Amino acid sequence: MGLGHSTEAEKNPEVAPPTTLFLFGAHGDLVKRLLMPALCNLTRDGLVDDHLHIVGVDHNAATDAEFAQKLETFMREEGAKKNTEGGDALDPELWQRLAARISYIQGDFLDDSTYQSIASKIESTGTGNAAFYLATAPRFFSEVVKRLGTAKLLKERGGVFRRVVIEKPFGHDLASAMALNESLLKVMSEKQIYRIDHYLGKETVQNILVSRFSNGLFESFWNNHYIDHVQITAAETVGVGTRAGFYENTGALRDMVPNHLFQLLAMVAMEPPAAFGADAVRGEKAKVVGAIRPWSEMEALANSVRGQYTGNKSADLLGYRDEENIAPDSNTETYVALKVMVDNWRWVGVPFYLRTGKRLSTRSTEIAICFKPAPYAQFRDTEVDRLKPNFLRIQIQPNEGMWFDLLAKRPGPNLEMEDIKLGFAYKDFFEMQPSTGYETLIYDCLTGDQTLFQRADNIENGWRAVQPFLNAWAKHPEVQPYIAGGSGPEASDELLRNDNREWRQIDG
Ligand code: BG6
Repeated sequence: MGLGHSTEAEKNPEVAPPTTLFLFGAHGDLVKRLLMPALCNLTRDGLVDDHLHIVGVDHNAATDAEFAQKLETFMREEGAKKNTEGGDALDPELWQRLAARISYIQGDFLDDSTYQSIASKIESTGTGNAAFYLATAPRFFSEVVKRLGTAKLLKERGGVFRRVVIEKPFGHDLASAMALNESLLKVMSEKQIYRIDHYLGKETVQNILVSRFSNGLFESFWNNHYIDHVQITAAETVGVGTRAGFYENTGALRDMVPNHLFQLLAMVAMEPPAAFGADAVRGEKAKVVGAIRPWSEMEALANSVRGQYTGNKSADLLGYRDEENIAPDSNTETYVALKVMVDNWRWVGVPFYLRTGKRLSTRSTEIAICFKPAPYAQFRDTEVDRLKPNFLRIQIQPNEGMWFDLLAKRPGPNLEMEDIKLGFAYKDFFEMQPSTGYETLIYDCLTGDQTLFQRADNIENGWRAVQPFLNAWAKHPEVQPYIAGGSGPEASDELLRNDNREWRQIDG
């Protein structure tokens, strides 16, 4: 459950109210890989009960039973794979409970009769409340919502709720994100819209706010007096895989930066909200993303690096241009490094360096806060003439936790420094049930907590900050090569070297 709930509610979470949950794009990957497992976990934890009805909506022909069977087969196979790695298999009893409330509507998203079938379904389940989860290609977002509106399915009469969950990508640039917001807000209010960024479902991301705002210690050094710069890294080992169609038109910047990386930046950089309610938290996040300095196109070029992976024979890895369905002369970036400045009182003068890429050496998502060096005059005449900066590293995944990198004296007659770590690893303190990260987000949508969802202004501010990079790259589309399985293009190291800084090694 998300941040907006009180401590009392955390201890005794309520069961989500009766709802009919429509999954548009029911035959897609997201539904079987993430949403259904998340719904199983919510059922396991007693957070949803037998009053939740799940209805797949898609154009393929299937009966209710066939649809449920398809999901079951997939999850059973995945569960079996995970089980051999120590994960959880699909629990047959749990599945039986859920399967009894799964049904399917075959329909074209653009056809009015689909929406009549949806209206009849809501009548027959008798829940009144309905949530429409758009796990579809983005071109359907405004089309589906428009038709839900015309069919009066978004009217909240007599105390029932009607909510729409929208997956990413939310827009392709600033203009399209604004147009999409406008079309949604024509037929429903902001309170009904749940824009997903799955990073906000991660415990470690939510914990950034808790660490910052519940431990007095942090506030004392969380500003430009003590912090030199911040590095945000989302490194992946996977390549483009089977997603060529999507990725060729998207690239690393659109795929990861205005959403996931800016969410991490916002969590680190936002001011304390007046309360942990949706309005206050989202207001502060929108403000800080809105404070990212809009670069001119020249500045955007100088402060960014676009990379693309090339083949690595010894590791048996293809180059991006040789992957399936990728144009042999593609200039889509699979890596991006950026420098951004946050122009407000707390952060003026502190660069935020962001990098993300596919086919890097290690999977690691990390925020590294680099502190200003200690004054080191007292060590002048010793061997220790250069002190390493201290870092606070917040590991989002895969080794969830937080570590302070400090220096200590190595025992012995000489004054020799050694790197040490003060740390907290989640696994040492908490027993975590297997989860997909979507549990919290689905539950929060069903219970009406928007804290972990993006508001219109947050999304638009994110696109506003990346738009100069898009504009500059449209005129300079060349990409810097980096070897698959490596640490990114050389130009990315130069970006920091120009500021007399260096990236931390990517080391999950
Ligand atoms: C998705 C992107 O939003 O996030 C993918 O479309 C990316 O390209 C993924 O791989 C990363 O998510 P996670 O949770 O694995 O860090």
